[in-house]
Amino acid sequence: MFTRQFGLLGLAASVAASPALLQREYNATNTSMVYSFKDVPVTKDIQYIPCYDNYTCTQLEVPLDYEDLDAGSTNIAFMKYEAAQQPALGDIIFNPGGPGDSAVLTLTQLLPQLLELLGDSYNIVGMDPRGINNSGPLLDCFDGQPWLRDYYYGQVYDGVDPRSNVSISKYYEASGTFGTWCTQHLNKTAKYANTPATARDMLQYAELLAESQGKPRDEAKVDFYGASYGTVLGTTFAALFPDRVGKFLIDAVVDGDDYYHGNWTQNLLQADASVDAFFKTCAEAGPLCAFYRNGSTAADLKERFDAMLADLEEDPVPVNDPLFVEFPTVVTHIDVRNLLMMAVYNPPTYFSIVGVVADGLESRNGSLAALYSAKGIAPGTSKCDYTGAGSETVLPKEVVACNDNNKSFNGSEEALFELFSQQKKLSTYLGDTWPLAVVPQCRLLDITPPKSQLFAGFKKVNTSTPILFADNVIDPVTSSGELMSGYFEGSTLLLQDAVGHGLVVASSNCTSSYVQKYFKTGQLPPKNTTCETEFDAFPQFAGLKKRGLAPHHPAVRRHMAL
Ligand SMILES: *[C@@H]1O[C@H](CO)[C@@H](O)[C@H](O)[C@H]1NC(C)=O
Ligand SMILES: *[C@@H]1O[C@H](CO)[C@@H](O)[C@H](O)[C@H]1NC(C)=O
Ligand SMILES: *[C@@H]1O[C@H](CO)[C@@H](O)[C@H](O)[C@H]1NC(C)=O
Ligand SMILES: *[C@@H]1O[C@H](CO)[C@@H](O)[C@H](O)[C@H]1NC(C)=O
Ligand SMILES: *[C@@H]1O[C@H](CO)[C@@H](O)[C@H](O)[C@H]1NC(C)=O
Ligand SMILES: *[C@@H]1O[C@H](CO)[C@@H](O)[C@H](O)[C@H]1NC(C)=O
Ligand SMILES: *[C@@H]1O[C@H](CO)[C@@H](O)[C@H](O)[C@H]1NC(C)=O
Ligand SMILES: *[C@@H]1O[C@H](CO)[C@@H](O)[C@H](O)[C@H]1NC(C)=O
Ligand SMILES: *[C@@H]1O[C@H](CO)[C@@H](O)[C@H](O)[C@H]1NC(C)=O
Ligand SMILES: *[C@@H]1O[C@H](CO)[C@@H](O)[C@H](O)[C@H]1NC(C)=O
Ligand SMILES: *[C@@H]1O[C@H](CO)[C@@H](O)[C@H](O)[C@H]1NC(C)=O
Ligand SMILES: *[C@@H]1O[C@H](CO)[C@@H](O)[C@H](O)[C@H]1NC(C)=O
Repeated sequence: MFTRQFGLLGLAASVAASPALLQREYNATNTSMVYSFKDVPVTKDIQYIPCYDNYTCTQLEVPLDYEDLDAGSTNIAFMKYEAAQQPALGDIIFNPGGPGDSAVLTLTQLLPQLLELLGDSYNIVGMDPRGINNSGPLLDCFDGQPWLRDYYYGQVYDGVDPRSNVSISKYYEASGTFGTWCTQHLNKTAKYANTPATARDMLQYAELLAESQGKPRDEAKVDFYGASYGTVLGTTFAALFPDRVGKFLIDAVVDGDDYYHGNWTQNLLQADASVDAFFKTCAEAGPLCAFYRNGSTAADLKERFDAMLADLEEDPVPVNDPLFVEFPTVVTHIDVRNLLMMAVYNPPTYFSIVGVVADGLESRNGSLAALYSAKGIAPGTSKCDYTGAGSETVLPKEVVACNDNNKSFNGSEEALFELFSQQKKLSTYLGDTWPLAVVPQCRLLDITPPKSQLFAGFKKVNTSTPILFADNVIDPVTSSGELMSGYFEGSTLLLQDAVGHGLVVASSNCTSSYVQKYFKTGQLPPKNTTCETEFDAFPQFAGLKKRGLAPHHPAVRRHMAL
């Protein structure tokens, strides 16, 4: 029996723990072990207490605006995984992307991969950025009713079809009215949830840490690992505080100028190449890929796939098998494109699913497509059946992204039409759906950060430690490593021979040894290094090699994120 949970394909479910790496535990009989940040005192200095069995947690009280202490304060949540050997070489602050993703949550989900990549000589610290999950200020437009928020998102995003200007117009108006709604409901403190302020909080942490170790505050440096949107946070920090940069690993690199302009137009540069990788690896995998036929080449597979998609554009497929859906529904080409989007973030987990979905759809059987897209399944629309597995990350993403872009998104309806058509030119497979990642909500969301928290743009700087940039050879949504590396004197870009979003998508001794050498000694890999990997898009035993970052929550597949 297929369950709703199975259809949701959460990132947590896609990550297989490797128990060997998780042996150290705190003594859980100590009754002060806490399992909620509500039980972690908010303090002015760092006071870690045991939490969530294997970690320690602290919450810092920080000024909402470091330049205007009268604005009040908020709480920032930190969760630390301690290195085996203490004292550790330092604390690596980790950010997994979004904006909107919880570092605290992702740390627990990706711990084995993080240890494999970063080694075990630094502590790893998940810090929930401002406005996100356990950290304040609160960003909520639905008066504490998350089931209502998730129901709302389902309504707005479902069925936006760029083939219809009517549909885009409707989305445009819906976004606008949402901005107006949120302006009425958000707390006045929401404007302080932005990337430059979060960067400043990282400095605060490093200074308090130094102080607690008897070292001078003003020499404290931040060590950092950021992926995807985390690269915006990292490069923002490095631009604002170049002489406070410790070891920085900047992975799956976003074009920061594009992000701060609110454009989101430079993401899909390698999107079609990443879909082509599906055809190539499916042909190589043979019978392990359900879409493969005897003797298929990559070109054959692409031809059949494109024909299937074209057929679907004309004729959506009805689904009514009660084993797969709770009510009758239809699967559209947009559903398949959303699934593809999710898949190219994390091929080892999702390419085999694309294989079975395409195999079914080719003979107009949409049951598995519906299942994996969570179509024909009732959302939790009341407090009682709310599972919390919905859109938690979407609202913070929108507020933070809007705060960051200083109203520079050109919010006309024409601009939205133009965006859809331009993105389609950039990627024939994913250009139809990516513009939903953009934030037309900003247009009528009337909040603005204080001047001190508006980012003035990147220009070339010299950092106290050279930065290590990294990208997979093919990343569907972030491949601007070379561009961003250009802003930071002495930095190097390391490539990893894999397809997907973030280094953790593949195992590579080469990558991890360069990364760990960098964190230990500051030494960068030679220029133009490309690391081999054990990348396998169709693992023999699916489940064992599942790993990687997914676009937010797959259940919210309509809300693409970095
Ligand atoms: C755990 O802590 C309790 C109380 O501090 C102590 O009595 C017990 O021996 C400890 N257990 C282990 C395995 O260290
Ligand atoms: C439990 O942990 C707290 C915080 O680390 C410590 O202060 C306390 O002494 C511990 N209690 C026991 C019984 O070990
Ligand atoms: C702590 O580690 C153990 C394995 O040692 C694991 O089973 C458990 O889920 C971990 N707890 C958390 C909260 O991550
Ligand atoms: C927020 O963090 C808690 C752990 O403190 C975790 O259980 C929860 O899933 C996280 N929620 C989101 C939306 O990330
Ligand atoms: C949609 O609007 C754009 C911009 O106004 C226009 O170029 C395009 O032809 C329209 N498409 C359709 C199908 O009407
Ligand atoms: C806004 O947030 C502040 C700080 O968290 C809180 O004290 C205040 O009650 C909130 N105001 C409203 C109207 O929710
Ligand atoms: C973003 O869009 C604006 C207005 O269309 C344009 O001037 C600017 O060059 C764009 N920036 C990037 C980085 O694409
Ligand atoms: C696969 O194709 C080859 C040549 O096209 C043929 O000899 C073989 O019998 C086919 N195998 C199957 C299982 O159809
Ligand atoms: C459609 O595909 C599903 C999943 O493979 C299968 O269980 C079902 O029997 C198929 N339906 C038809 C009518 O073939
Ligand atoms: C933010 O936008 C305002 C109004 O357009 C402009 O005057 C200001 O220079 C911008 N600030 C930054 C840091 O870009
Ligand atoms: C990577 O390192 C591990 C542990 O050191 C080793 O077992 C494995 O064979 C190595 N893999 C490759 C491809 O070198
Ligand atoms: C690195 O690669 C680029 C382009 O592939 C090339 O132009 C450059 O000369 C190479 N640099 C070195 C040091 O090999």
